[in-house]
Amino acid sequence: MALDQKGSPRDSDDLGVGASRDSTAREQPVEALQQARDQLQAVLDAIPGIVSWIGADLRYLGCNRRLAEALNLSPEALVGREVGFLGTSPELAAFVREFFASPAREASRGIASREAQGALRHYLVVARKYQQDRVAVFVGIDLTERKRAEEALRHSLEETARGQRLLLALSQAAQAVQRARSPDEVHRVIGDEVARLGYHATLFTLTDDRAHLALSHHTFEPAIVRAAEKVAGIAVQDFRLPLAPAGFLQRLLAEGETIFRPTGEILAAALPGPLRSLADRLADRLDLQQSILAPLTVGGQTYGLLVVTGIGLTEADVPAVTAFANQTAVALENARLYAQVRAGEEQLRSLASYLQTAREEERSHIAREIHDELGQALTALKMDLSWLAQRLPTDQSHLAEKTGVMSDLIDSIVQTVRRVATELRPGLLDHVGLTAAIEWQIQEFAERTGIACDLYLGEEELALDADLATAIFRIFQETLTNVARHAGATKVGVELQDRSGELVLIVWDNGRGLTESQVRDPRSLGLLGMRERIRAWGGDITFQGVQERGTTVTLRVRRPSARGGRQ
Ligand SMILES: Nc1ncnc2c1ncn2[C@@H]1O[C@H](COP(=O)(O)OP(=O)(O)OP(=O)(O)O)[C@@H](O)[C@H]1O
Ligand SMILES: [Mg+2]
Repeated sequence: MALDQKGSPRDSDDLGVGASRDSTAREQPVEALQQARDQLQAVLDAIPGIVSWIGADLRYLGCNRRLAEALNLSPEALVGREVGFLGTSPELAAFVREFFASPAREASRGIASREAQGALRHYLVVARKYQQDRVAVFVGIDLTERKRAEEALRHSLEETARGQRLLLALSQAAQAVQRARSPDEVHRVIGDEVARLGYHATLFTLTDDRAHLALSHHTFEPAIVRAAEKVAGIAVQDFRLPLAPAGFLQRLLAEGETIFRPTGEILAAALPGPLRSLADRLADRLDLQQSILAPLTVGGQTYGLLVVTGIGLTEADVPAVTAFANQTAVALENARLYAQVRAGEEQLRSLASYLQTAREEERSHIAREIHDELGQALTALKMDLSWLAQRLPTDQSHLAEKTGVMSDLIDSIVQTVRRVATELRPGLLDHVGLTAAIEWQIQEFAERTGIACDLYLGEEELALDADLATAIFRIFQETLTNVARHAGATKVGVELQDRSGELVLIVWDNGRGLTESQVRDPRSLGLLGMRERIRAWGGDITFQGVQERGTTVTLRVRRPSARGGRQ
């Protein structure tokens, strides 16, 4: 130990502690001196740090046991050697040199030093000169553990912050995913959002037989994809992850739990047997180290898997990815339902349009039958009647009178037949166009109902596709029927305009006014039919009512070039 007789401090004074400086110390009994040295030694050994004293010639005069042990030397072996002779801490050697070179009597510095075992330790070294600055004592306080603890704390704080950033980013991503409208769009948005975080996303869909996970989307770069294709020997879009019975993927899907795994393991599960040992190396080469696998589950039903892959993912990210996967699953389900509804709507629309056409054809057919068959039969009847009337004996005046009444009746039936036939299929539409047909219909309406009508129609006949003209005319008829049945109006107005290619038909009445709820009521099939009919032409129709003031129906449609068919 440093303080025995052969040890470095040639004189207890060197230490500046223990025995006092004055010369009377030498006169003290030897036991007292020994006691003081023992005390000092005990103190030095108890210090949880390293202590050395060094002369201005930069040579060690001694050290405590801890320092000697750290350097794997005996304390004696250190004495007389120059500071830095072991090369374990150039920082300390520099500090000692600079301290002696400076006039300061005290200094401290944080230094790192390598132990004999090679471990790096950190010290705060406090130095103090004594003996007219010819010697200094250096006390090093070991800060290694504290530094490690600080390091660990900083790391865990960084980890937490990273986890929170990921959670935040994923929750924003989830919002973007919710806005997507089709499964494809959902896949793309997920891929984009995860890629923006510096990770890869892979989406799998469970096949119908639930034996495989089929790849439905991925964000891997082409180079990675090519490498994977080469290893697996199949094109990436045909990639299927087999679900071995009781395999971990199978369990994962069954339990609906998100797990953290090394990517190599997943690759191994996907690769054919002989290639499995390659998986880890492949994952390493492709820089795909960690993965989080989250089942896509809605209402307890699992139908896919989201795999987020990248460097630096940890177990701690599992909750964030789980939450994201849950939102993704809901978004996918919504998109699927939305697509279904859209398809259903589309079907209904084409069914409605088919029914309209069928109805038009039926009407035409009946109109022709009535007009031709019934018309001709009535004409024949009338001719027969007049033949009969001419042959009646002249004295039978009451019979002649009867035939006159019958003839008038036949005329009126002929009129009715014509009107019904025309209403069923207004030949006017084909022959004179929409404007004239509307004019005829409104006169007919005014006569039948006694409601006064104002007409604002253009001078010119509009050049219109025949089917569109029919659609508009039917809507117009339906509107008039509604006025007659529901409005209780005394006045109707009709306006037809061509506003630079947009055709606008307005029909208003001064009746009780339809209500907003009637317009929205799904049972208002008449209104619905009108809307559907004009939407098929890319047009629109609005119904506006003011209580006890009347109703305005406004139809707008872009006019395709005449006879041009639908746009
Ligand atoms: N011009 C109007 N004035 C007042 N109420 C109206 C008018 N047009 C429609 N309505 C109201 O809107 C409802 C829905 O009209 P819609 O044409 O859809 O059905 P409907 O005429 O009752 O039956 P349908 O047309 O199917 O034979 C009507 O029942 C009526 O109450
Ligand atoms: Mg109606």
